[in-house]
Amino acid sequence: MNAVIVYASKYGTVERFAGELKEAFGQGCETHNLRESKNVDISSFDVVFVGGSIYAGRIQNEVQQFCTRHQSELLEKHVGLFISCLYEGEDADRQLVASFPDWLFAHAFGTYIIGGEVRPAQLRLLDSILMKTFLHVREDIVKRRPEVLKAMVEDARQLV
Ligand SMILES: Cc1cc2nc3c(=O)[nH]c(=O)nc-3n(C[C@H](O)[C@H](O)[C@H](O)COP(=O)(O)O)c2cc1C
Repeated sequence: MNAVIVYASKYGTVERFAGELKEAFGQGCETHNLRESKNVDISSFDVVFVGGSIYAGRIQNEVQQFCTRHQSELLEKHVGLFISCLYEGEDADRQLVASFPDWLFAHAFGTYIIGGEVRPAQLRLLDSILMKTFLHVREDIVKRRPEVLKAMVEDARQLV
């Protein structure tokens, strides 16, 4: 089985999680950062994971555009969807559903909330203000969910 993890990441959290996933998959897994290049060839992969992080309730535009551009191809692949965010429970579930088009959500073999991290000292000014005002975050927050990354690998391995 081979897999590609296509993602967008603003401050590097999703990028780190994607790297951990790639390592867990071992050979045959690649990562692709949509912020570095919007062109990605997914034709040779059996499994495609697509995801990004949530800002003010929304996933990055790059992720939405990737899904729209690759609609027909994605519908022929095994697709897993994920988001990185700080919210948990129903709030996180709502963000997950809102992040992807209905046709892709219905097609996906799995949807995953992989946790999130934020370090206020690293944020650009506007993000820092938003963070303090709306999310009331002043300290570093690290919410890691290694069990979810493990489940992503196991679910994908069962497919092919
Ligand atoms: C300005 C700002 C707004 C955010 N808004 C949300 C939000 O609406 N919901 C949420 O669950 N997490 C929110 N987060 C948390 C991010 O989704 C989380 O930190 C994520 O892990 C960032 O990943 P990245 O560094 O790969 O972009 C926000 C973070 C920042 C800095």
